[in-house]
Amino acid sequence: MDINKELSEKIKHICDNYTASEIGGCITGDGPMPCHILFVGEAPGKTEVLEGKPFVGMAGQNFEKYLNSIGLTRNNVRITNTCFFRPIKISEGKNGRKTISNRTPKISEINLFKDILDEEISLVNPKIIVTLGNVPLKRLTEFKSIGNCHGSLYFNEKLKRYIFPMYHPSSLTYNRNETFKAMYQDDWIKLKETLKKF
Ligand code: URA
Repeated sequence: MDINKELSEKIKHICDNYTASEIGGCITGDGPMPCHILFVGEAPGKTEVLEGKPFVGMAGQNFEKYLNSIGLTRNNVRITNTCFFRPIKISEGKNGRKTISNRTPKISEINLFKDILDEEISLVNPKIIVTLGNVPLKRLTEFKSIGNCHGSLYFNEKLKRYIFPMYHPSSLTYNRNETFKAMYQDDWIKLKETLKKF
């Protein structure tokens, strides 16, 4: 069987059997395997589940714009997540109308997919893993916060792989100030420079 299909069946099995909290569908990673560059995000949102691909919603549009700006396309890289289902919360307004929104995955939910992400990393066999935001950073490294380590290359002894931590592209939508935007842009330029060494 196709390796992507095998991964998606394992993911689907985990999601189908998960009853502890509300979830809104699941997806698998996207892009070639093996591949030199692996991007790891947090968890899919509504658009990702609808389209069956990571980073195709609002954060994904920012991500793809910057990816293209350093001369890469989605066809050159593998993109995946730390949690493969959409973690949701359902709130009821005063009028009784229900609204569904995204939430950060719980540690227990991230752990459900520990073996899947480990397997995907070994199948992709990347030269460099780019973590997007705090969730994949904490899952894969000992760093406590993206603020202390973004935009630099580290060799991770446990994984025996190079890691390049970056802010999550959705941080651009809640950190709209120009200083943050310039720093975020600069991290992509640093990634471009780093990739030349590989
Ligand atoms: N944000 C993520 O972290 N992952 C996605 O797939 C989409 C948005």
